[in-house]
Amino acid sequence: MKKAAVIGYPISHSLSPKIHKFWLNKKAIKGSYEALEVAPDNFEYFLQNEALKLDGFNVTLPFKERIFEFIKKEYGQSYLSSTAQKIGAVNTVTVKEGQLWGDNSDAFGFWENIKTKISSQSIALILGAGGASRAIIVALQQERFEQIILVNRTMERAQKLGQEFGIDVASWDDISQFLPSVSLLVNCTSLGMHGYPDLSIDLSGLSQKALVTDIVYTPLYTSLLKQAARQGNSVQNGLGMLLHQARLGFQKWFDENVFVDEELRQYIESLL
Ligand code: ATR
Repeated sequence: MKKAAVIGYPISHSLSPKIHKFWLNKKAIKGSYEALEVAPDNFEYFLQNEALKLDGFNVTLPFKERIFEFIKKEYGQSYLSSTAQKIGAVNTVTVKEGQLWGDNSDAFGFWENIKTKISSQSIALILGAGGASRAIIVALQQERFEQIILVNRTMERAQKLGQEFGIDVASWDDISQFLPSVSLLVNCTSLGMHGYPDLSIDLSGLSQKALVTDIVYTPLYTSLLKQAARQGNSVQNGLGMLLHQARLGFQKWFDENVFVDEELRQYIESLL
């Protein structure tokens, strides 16, 4: 029986076991997928011991960068997929012959979630320059967007990412200037998430063709998405990114293709 897991700290709220168990049931695969809480002090020990008894696992907060560094140091760069190397973080690990292989499915999940709703791959405006933004930048570069513009409250962070990825950087105060020409607006800041203030930007100048997406899914519809929907823009919430990113791990560990359908989406929404 194949065994998989998600590791994080804390981990009790993770929806990943529900998603994978849904697919295991649907495909009638005898396999397991458990949430394992790993204390930060135990992280290396876990990777050198229990992790090797699994076929693979997902990695979530706060370990995505730490496991990237671990795999690089213990096994070498070639054990990290090119996407994981660009993002600088790992969220999907496969265990083969006692060794860990790191990949990152966040860029894939992000793109799969929006690709059918996007009107053109021209200009994307990304708000936020934290860890989450890196996967979004990589996805949009892989999809060959004509221009990617990054804005962030702290300009230096945006400039650093801008330089690393070779994309444009602008000031937070200039957001409204870009809105008429973007085909995609992505919120990667923490604003709008439960427990954080709303992201308050005025979308009235936004192109009618722009898709607005948020990478958070708690709440499912942030005030940003509501504002965009009210003025007739298409919107996509972040839940699909979570669902789609899970597909890569499942396919690697359980050797079956799986898809995100309405039944899965509604089931996971009912748990939020
Ligand atoms: P993650 O890894 O989830 O991206 P992070 O690295 O803490 O988390 O980044 C959070 C993002 O939300 C950053 O872009 C942050 O902006 P700063 O770099 O200026 O901190 C942004 N953010 C958080 N609180 C914010 C606020 N009150 N106003 C504007 N941006 C905010």
